[in-house]
Amino acid sequence: MRRTNYCGLFSEQDVGKPTTACGWVETKRDMGGVIFIDLVDREGVLQIVFNPAYTDPEAFALAERVRNQSALIVEGAMFLRDEETVNPKIATGTVELRVDRAELLSTCGDLPFNPAEADDVREDLRLRYRYLDLRRKRLRDNIRFRHRVASAIRRFMDSEGFVDVETPILTKSTPEGARDYLVPSRVHQGSFYALPQSPQLFKQLLMVAGFDRYYQIARCFRDEDLRADRQPEFTQLDMEMSFVEMEDILATLERLFRSVVGEVKGIHFDAPFPRLTWVEAMDRYGSDKPDLRFDLPIVDITDIAPSMGFSVFSKAVEAGGVVRAITVPGQSDFTRNTINDLTDFAVSEGAGGMAWIAWRPSGEIYSILSKFVEEKDMRILLDRVNARPGDFVLFSADKPDVVRKVTGALRLKLGDILGLRDPDKFAFAIVTDFPMFEYNEEEGRYTAQHHPFTMPFMEDLDYLISDPPRVRSQAYDFVLNGTELGSGSIRIHRSDIQRRVFEALGLGEEEIEERFGFILNAFTYGAPPHGGFAFGLDRLVMLLAGEQSLRDVIAFPKIRDASCPMTDAPTAVSPDQLGALGICVADSPLSARESAASPREKRRAALNIKQLADD
Ligand code: AMO
Repeated sequence: MRRTNYCGLFSEQDVGKPTTACGWVETKRDMGGVIFIDLVDREGVLQIVFNPAYTDPEAFALAERVRNQSALIVEGAMFLRDEETVNPKIATGTVELRVDRAELLSTCGDLPFNPAEADDVREDLRLRYRYLDLRRKRLRDNIRFRHRVASAIRRFMDSEGFVDVETPILTKSTPEGARDYLVPSRVHQGSFYALPQSPQLFKQLLMVAGFDRYYQIARCFRDEDLRADRQPEFTQLDMEMSFVEMEDILATLERLFRSVVGEVKGIHFDAPFPRLTWVEAMDRYGSDKPDLRFDLPIVDITDIAPSMGFSVFSKAVEAGGVVRAITVPGQSDFTRNTINDLTDFAVSEGAGGMAWIAWRPSGEIYSILSKFVEEKDMRILLDRVNARPGDFVLFSADKPDVVRKVTGALRLKLGDILGLRDPDKFAFAIVTDFPMFEYNEEEGRYTAQHHPFTMPFMEDLDYLISDPPRVRSQAYDFVLNGTELGSGSIRIHRSDIQRRVFEALGLGEEEIEERFGFILNAFTYGAPPHGGFAFGLDRLVMLLAGEQSLRDVIAFPKIRDASCPMTDAPTAVSPDQLGALGICVADSPLSARESAASPREKRRAALNIKQLADD
């Protein structure tokens, strides 16, 4: 028997033809001696019917005993379904395969969960049996959607003359800001490779080599705290171009995103993607990754706030702070509970409190400020923030960083409350002119906000050492629905500037040579001006698929503690393996047994302890 088509692809055109189908038993119904099975494969579902009137007795006996999720092959003829059994919800809903012969290809043991109904099953259980989980339609669709996105990206990059080049996985540390995953060398005991946090340095070297346009769908590894939008290993679309300026790269990327989203979602964007400088994004939306599915801009009123007679405003401004407001159209009837929730939320984000005015449609003003601010002044405020009768206005006054954070968070919260963050809507934004450095309190020094290979604004070069916060960089981000999709920059291609940036970052001469000597050297051999970009493929697929977690768009993801519940990685290795690498594992504060335990054993141990405590 050989399959004539996928289960989900049969149609009325197959009626009357001899048909063979393979797949997994999803559901079985015995209707008075006639057995109906939903046979499923990657393309969908087909109803197959076993009836003693036409089915071989052995095949009928098989249908009676076959277990859910077993693999079957069946042969028979395709028929139109009776009118009353037509199922308009599935593509093959008007036909059924009446089985003559059947063979069990592989039986299924006791299932830990039923993949057809696994939406509510605990995630760690699903991940332990990920191959069963992946039989779920939703996940199967996501993984195949991911393939379509990757194919569309490749097609676009190929059509624009980019060359796909693989870069090493066993490499040297690249500074993208996370911890490295290290791989010990057997030959050079005591030395370690680092898995790439990104192909950054290699793609720049490919530009020095003259490839001109490079891309790669690249695996990256970062040992950082995991969140729903972070995995320890993830995939980037990584690209680089030579002899270009920022505008060329942004235009290429905009074409790429338009082409991919158009192809896989059928969504076309009429207007150019909105562009903001970093300062504009931070001031207007309180975030460098603004969610532009909705407006609700933040308005600065620092100039008029001190004259309102409200000491919180005037003290904040005296102390060098700012006062900003958000006007929420048509929400002057927010309840006291909603206002209290918003205030508590603002406080949890670092605010001292939250001032507000509700301008009723009747014209009446209701406000927490009434005790302090005269009505005529309140009307000046309302006018300034473009409010109309019926609107609600909230205020934040504090240091600039605090106000940005609080108003940015309030804006998103308001978006949630008002249902403005529609998952079916896609709003790109391009943010440019990032500061070159940010101060790292923990390390007590400046670190590169993007990475140290980013070209500063030429007119800011003089401030590299004297006034680092003032230096702007030729870096840019693409943002989708408030999530950072990707970042890039024009790179430094001159070793003298690169050295000055390393110095500004507090690196000594020796460290610079040791870590980056090879790239500084490469820049002395006719390095072209170049720049590039990388975006998270997992993140793009997650957003386009309407999922909340990267785990739902990665075939075999890791969980929060960076382990894999299915393979149990990472695991302890044998003393022989360690010996060959010249490695001796130090005793941790945990007992030796515990530290050698696999993540699963540790989880079990934790559960047992909890059970004991409960007992
Ligand atoms: P950056 O570090 O901003 O830039 O990374 C680019 C994009 O990669 C994705 N990303 C991640 N996705 C999932 N899990 C993670 N742990 C994770 N970390 C990053 C994000 C991010 O925007 N070499 C530079 C790019 C360049 O300058 O060309 C770089 O890697 O979507």
